[in-house]
Amino acid sequence: MKIDIGIEKPARKAIADGLSRLLADEYTLYLKTHNFHWNVTGPMFNTLHLMFETHYTEAALAVDLVAERIRALGFPAPGTYQQFAALSSIKEEGGVPDATTMIKQLVLGHETCVRTAREVFPAAEGASDEPSCDLLTQRMQLHEKTAWMLRSLLE
Ligand SMILES: [Fe+2]
Repeated sequence: MKIDIGIEKPARKAIADGLSRLLADEYTLYLKTHNFHWNVTGPMFNTLHLMFETHYTEAALAVDLVAERIRALGFPAPGTYQQFAALSSIKEEGGVPDATTMIKQLVLGHETCVRTAREVFPAAEGASDEPSCDLLTQRMQLHEKTAWMLRSLLE
């Protein structure tokens, strides 16, 4: 059936494309956070191991909301590592950095997610797509808060 939700197809496509880039950032950051949960070492092990678990658990739920919003707008959600690598602005970590470097990388990752969400927002707002605006606002709020918490560990 044709989609008739009061947002024309080109606008839905622009929003879905933006949300796909956000999904790729979120998924890449999810994997990086889980990776660091497994591989972190040093005197802050317990703190960071548990903190990273909190963060990747939240991310695992969030990627589902972003992907399903793309589907509700009428487009397929990217769902392979190949697509995520092509769409994401977050660089993967090939090695095992020290704990401080892990924290710095995660701050950069959360800030990247915030910037991507903020870039997508005008397309959603311009099309009166309140559900996407709401989702983007929630993601920005979460990532800005998490970036602050991680940044505080470095002071
Ligand atoms: Fe675990």
